[in-house]
Amino acid sequence: MKIYEGKAKKMILLDEGKLIMEFKDDATAFNGEKKAKFKGKGRLNAQISTILFKVLEENGIKTHFIGIAGDNRLIVEKLKIYPLEVVVRNVVAGSLKKRLPLDEGTNLPEPIVELYYKNDDLGDPMINHYHAKILGISESELKEIENIALKINKILKEYFAQKGIILVDFKLEFGKNERGEIILGDEISPDTCRLWDAKTKQSLDKDVFRFDKGDLISAYEELYKRLTA
Ligand code: ADP
Ligand code: TMP
Ligand code: ASP
Repeated sequence: MKIYEGKAKKMILLDEGKLIMEFKDDATAFNGEKKAKFKGKGRLNAQISTILFKVLEENGIKTHFIGIAGDNRLIVEKLKIYPLEVVVRNVVAGSLKKRLPLDEGTNLPEPIVELYYKNDDLGDPMINHYHAKILGISESELKEIENIALKINKILKEYFAQKGIILVDFKLEFGKNERGEIILGDEISPDTCRLWDAKTKQSLDKDVFRFDKGDLISAYEELYKRLTA
């Protein structure tokens, strides 16, 4: 039974509080304004997400990942997802350039965490703790979410660095499981991260599609190759 079809994935309900998360070949950018299909993208994102969830689990982060159910499908724990996109940034890029007078590529002295309200009709606006409280998310939940996001950043930044890749920024989603624990959900893939080759600063992520920088599948395959080398 399909419970939800979004822009990049389908969620299918299994029994016992589990879901199949099926990655589609569709790509969208700028709140769905730009759309295309890339054969093989779903499989690559499912496989890259699997690798990254395993790295996080090995380092003590609780994720919704349970297993693999085919080329482009993962089995995950069903969560009550917070309506938040939690962005962590290490290097100036993307929408941060509209907020701070810093050039693209500038290293930040410490990571920045940003919260966005997941709401397509409002265009996913950036919000602060006061707004989040109105949405029913408490201060202690926000603190825990931000702490986990910063821990994830530390782990992934180091992991990617070993692969010759700079983790510029990325987006996370969190949810609560039936035991009331806050768990990392959704995906971590080149759709949701900015990843640059450490030497050439070339994009190995969805910016290739957003800003017409080349072939998306070649970039995602190059990333997959580096992570599995
Ligand atoms: P969007 O909704 O932005 O178009 P997707 O196409 O990626 O995004 O759809 C996946 C949906 O599933 C998202 O709304 C996401 O919040 C939600 N989701 C991710 N992980 C879980 C989970 N473990 N339990 C329930 N929902 C989840
Ligand atoms: P931004 O610079 O456009 O705000 O994006 C920051 C990071 O968040 C970048 O790695 C891409 C990711 N992201 C998503 O995963 N989903 C989104 O809807 C947006 C806007 C960004
Ligand atoms: N994920 C968003 C969209 O599909 C925006 C983005 O990633 O650029 O529109």
